[in-house]
Amino acid sequence: MTHDVKWRVATKDDTRYMQSFTCTSSSKRRGRTEVSFEYEVQAFFRKFAIPQVNQAKNDGLDGRLVIAEDEKGIAAAYAHRLLEPNEYREIGVEVPPGCPVRELCFLAVAERYRAPRGKLPGLSFTPGAMADESVNEALWDIKDRAAESPRVYVTGLVDYRNAASMRMLTRNGFDEVSRGCPPPKGDNRLGRWMRILR
Ligand SMILES: CC(C)(COP(=O)(O)OP(=O)(O)OC[C@H]1O[C@@H](n2cnc3c(N)ncnc32)[C@H](O)[C@@H]1OP(=O)(O)O)[C@@H](O)C(=O)NCCC(=O)NCCS
Repeated sequence: MTHDVKWRVATKDDTRYMQSFTCTSSSKRRGRTEVSFEYEVQAFFRKFAIPQVNQAKNDGLDGRLVIAEDEKGIAAAYAHRLLEPNEYREIGVEVPPGCPVRELCFLAVAERYRAPRGKLPGLSFTPGAMADESVNEALWDIKDRAAESPRVYVTGLVDYRNAASMRMLTRNGFDEVSRGCPPPKGDNRLGRWMRILR
């Protein structure tokens, strides 16, 4: 299912607008305790995405921040950038010459597109569909930016407590290639996920 959203690249002019993006909220009301890693993702999109993507652009790493919009505002967002060759050892795979590696840094859907598992009747959308559309859009965008390359390695780090994110990546052809992130990030809670686009 494709949603009625429009995708576009976010720019510096969206700095204030990005602060309105809500992928999670205090959810006692929903019988769900606060999920810290979701707040970190939300903070990234609200505060850090635009400067970090611009920094990546300045560093020649082709940073991209892309958002989807519906009539209520930002419906989904993702950010990705090229990895530098000296970062390849962090991902632990042999990368053939001429094949770029992209980090899918963050991806989130607005809370209004998320659904408690098992409570489906009456929903106006298909659970997971916006997330899948976002991953697909991100992969198209990534592929598009390396049209000449025989393969593109797409990788990302995911907190192992983030079950929704891991389910989404598994549905979309990613594998967890290692768990426990080596320095400089060095965080045992992070797993490295990968998909090779051909
Ligand atoms: C990762 C993501 C895009 C996957 O979306 P999805 O495939 O549609 O899956 P959902 O988020 O609907 O997954 C359902 C889970 O969300 C919970 N959920 C549903 N509505 C929610 C809401 N309004 N607020 C918080 N959590 C909610 C469900 O209870 C379920 O939790 P469980 O895994 O503990 O059972 C989405 O979870 C998201 O945007 N998360 C926040 C940002 C994030 O963590 N991104 C990934 C790392 S960059």
